Amino acid sequence: MTITKKLTTLSLALGALFLGACSDQASKQPLEEPSLIPLPKELSLTHGASYQLPKVIGFSTPDSESHWADISSLLSTELGRITSLKVEQKQEGAEIRFVNNPEIKSPEGYTLVVSADGIEIQASTGLGFRHAVQTLAQLTDAEGRVHQAEIKDEPRFAYRGLMLDVSRHFMSTDFIIRLLDEMARYKLNRFHWHIVDGGGWRMQSDAYPLLTKKAAWRTERDWDKWWHGQDRQFVEEDTPGAYGGYYTKDDIRRVVAHASKLGITIIPEIELPGHSNEIAAAYPELFCLERWDKSVTDVCIGNEATFTFFERILDETMELFPSEYIHIGGDEAAMNHWGDCTKCRARMKAEGLKDLHELQSYMIKRIERFLLSRGRKLIGWDEILMGGLAPEATVMSWRGEAGGIEAAKSGHDVIMTPNGFLYLDYYQAIAEHQPRAIGGYVPLEKVYSYNPESSSLSAEEKKHVLGVQANLWTEYVESDAHAEYMYFPRALALAEIAWSPQEKRNYEDFRRRATKQTEALRARGVNAYPLNGIATEVSTDLDKQLTSLTLRAEQSDVEIRYTTDGSEPTAESELYQSPITTADSALVVAKLFKNGMALDSVSLKYRIDYHKAIGKAIKYANQWNVRYPAAGEKTLIDGIRATPTYLDGMWLGFTEPLDVTIDLGETRELKHIFARFMQEREQWVYMPREVEVLVSQDGSKFESLGTLPPKTDEHNPRPVFEVFDFFPRTSARYIRMRAEIGRSVGHFIFLDEIVVH
Ligand code: ACM
Ligand code: ZN
Repeated sequence: MTITKKLTTLSLALGALFLGACSDQASKQPLEEPSLIPLPKELSLTHGASYQLPKVIGFSTPDSESHWADISSLLSTELGRITSLKVEQKQEGAEIRFVNNPEIKSPEGYTLVVSADGIEIQASTGLGFRHAVQTLAQLTDAEGRVHQAEIKDEPRFAYRGLMLDVSRHFMSTDFIIRLLDEMARYKLNRFHWHIVDGGGWRMQSDAYPLLTKKAAWRTERDWDKWWHGQDRQFVEEDTPGAYGGYYTKDDIRRVVAHASKLGITIIPEIELPGHSNEIAAAYPELFCLERWDKSVTDVCIGNEATFTFFERILDETMELFPSEYIHIGGDEAAMNHWGDCTKCRARMKAEGLKDLHELQSYMIKRIERFLLSRGRKLIGWDEILMGGLAPEATVMSWRGEAGGIEAAKSGHDVIMTPNGFLYLDYYQAIAEHQPRAIGGYVPLEKVYSYNPESSSLSAEEKKHVLGVQANLWTEYVESDAHAEYMYFPRALALAEIAWSPQEKRNYEDFRRRATKQTEALRARGVNAYPLNGIATEVSTDLDKQLTSLTLRAEQSDVEIRYTTDGSEPTAESELYQSPITTADSALVVAKLFKNGMALDSVSLKYRIDYHKAIGKAIKYANQWNVRYPAAGEKTLIDGIRATPTYLDGMWLGFTEPLDVTIDLGETRELKHIFARFMQEREQWVYMPREVEVLVSQDGSKFESLGTLPPKTDEHNPRPVFEVFDFFPRTSARYIRMRAEIGRSVGHFIFLDEIVVH
C-alpha cells in the first residue's frame, strides 16, 4: 500500500525524535502476532516490530468536527482498557495523528500506519476513524506495544448486523450497552432490536400505555412452561412474582445515544401482523375475536383501529430511533382467524384481495406507505414476499436464502440471515453438554462458511445484498450471560463474513484469531463459549473398506489425544495427527490437551463403523420427507454418522413410516444390527413408536428378529438419541427395518445409519 507522501516526509524528519519506537528484545514478553477480527482488506505486518505507546498519548485532529469528542472517548476507553494509559489532545508532536483524506471513498474506510515513528490514521468520515481506532486497539498489547503495520481497510458490506429478541426474555439496558461496545470492537454496525413479540411488549408507549401495564409481565419465566404449558397468561405490572420488564423511553434514548457514539444504527422491530399475541392482553379489540385467546397471534387487518394503533406506535418508535430502516416483522402470521372474521372478509372484498396472503400484503404495503411518508424505509422478514412484495421493501431472508434470492432478482434490497448459518439460538456444540437451545447446529465453522453472495445471483443482483445479520431468539436464553454465550464467539465469524473480502477468508487462519479473541472476550468479562469442542468429519472408502474419522479442535494451539477402546484419554494417550480409520468398528474418545494438561472440556465420544451394509443396495418403501433428505438414498448405508443435531443435513427424516430393505448381495452372518434415532421435541422429531428388524434369504419371505419400543421419555425437552439394537445370530441376505411414526401426522422420525455387523 502507499503511505501518503506527507506522512513519509514527516516520519523521516521526526523519526529520530520519537523515543517511543521499541525493538522486541527490550521488553519482557515476546510480541505476539496480532489477531485482527475482522481481517482488514489489506494488511501488511512488520513481524516482531512494535511501537511503544507512552503513558500519556497525544492525538491530533485535522479539524473541529463534532465527531472528535466521540472518537477521543473511544480512543481513551479502548486503549485504556488494554493498557493503563491516558489520552489527550496534542496538536504538535502527537503520537496518534488523525488525518482527513477525501480520497478514501468508502464511507467506512480508513488507512492505519503504525511505524517506528508513531501512528497515522486517515479516513474521510467519522465512521472510518472509529473503525481505525478499533483496529488500533486490536494491534495493541497489555504492555502498550502496538504492532507495526500498514492497513488499508473498508467493509465488504454496509449492513453488518446482530439481532436480539428481548420479548421472549427481557435483557437489561446495561447488557445491551455492553453488547453494542462488543459489536463496535468487531465493526458490526447494525443492532436489530426485536423489542416486541408474543413473549411480552417491551417498549413504553404514551399512546397505548396498557401495553407495558398489561402485556410486559407474565406468569412464568420459563418459556416451555409458559408458552407450551397450559398458561400463556400476562399479568399486570407490579404483580408479585411476575416475570418481565420493559424499556422506558429514557432507557431507549440511552441505548440509542450510546450506539450513535459508536457509529452503530439501531433498527427497531415492531412486529405485525403476526407474533402479536401480547397486544391482545392489552387491546383485545384489535383482534378478530375481539378478546384475549391463546390461539390469537395476528391482529385484525379489517379493523381501521389496527392501523391507527401501528401508525401511532410507529410514530413513537421513529421519534426514539433515527434509523432510516424500521423493521415491521411480517413473519409467521398464523392466519387462523382472518378467514372467519367479518371485518377481514369485508377488507378483502373492498380491496379485491384473493387470499389471506394478499390480505397480509395489503397491510404491509399500507404500513410501507406510512413509513415512506415519514421518510423511513421498511424491512420485513421474507414472508412479506407472499401475496406481493411492498414496492420499496427490503427483505430479511431467514428461511434459508431463497427469499433473499427471489427479492434480489426482483430488484429489492436484501439482508441475508439464513437460519442454517446465522441463527445463534441454535446449538454451537454437541447439545448434550450445552445449555438448552432451540435445536439446530451452527458451530463457529458453520457460521464462518457462509457467503452472503449466492452464486445464483448475477453481479448486478448481488448489489442488492446489503449485508448479513445473525439473530438471537431468546426462548431458551434467560439471562444476559447466556446471551453472551450464544453470541460469542460466533458473532466474530459473522463480523468477518460481513467485513472481509471473501477471497481472503480462511478458516484455519480465522480459527487462530478467533481463539485469541475469545480469550480476550472472556478476559474482559464476556461469557463467551470457550471453544472447547472437537469437530468431526467422517468418510468411507469402499475400495479400501475403511471408515475414517477426522477430528479438529475448535481452538488453535491445542492437542487432541484419543483412545479407540472407549476409555478416557490421558496426556499419554495417542496424539491425534491424522484421520482415525477402522475396517470394523471403534469407539473413539477424544479430549483436548495443552501443555500436558487436559483442558476443562467434555470428551468427544464418536463411534465409527465399517459395516456389512456400506455401499450395498437399499430400497425405500416410503420416501423420506423432502425437507430432510440428508445424502438421499445412500444416507443409511454410507458409514457416516450424523452429528447430534437435527439440522446438520446428515439425518434422514420421515413423516411416513420407515420401511427399508438392504440387499447385502450375498448371505452373510449377522451378529449385530442397530440404528440410532433422534428425538428433538421442539422440532417435532420423536422416537418411533417401535422398531422392527426382519431378515430374509430371498427378499420376499421375511422373518422378524423382534420389535423394540423406545425407552426415551417423549416429554424430554432436550435432544435425545436412542440406539435400537438387534442381535440376530443368524445369516441372511436381506435386512429390512421398519419403524412407525411415534406421533400423529406431521411429526418426524430421524435416523442416520443402519449399521450391520
Ligand atoms: C423468524 O425466525 N421467525 C424470523
Ligand atoms: Zn379480522
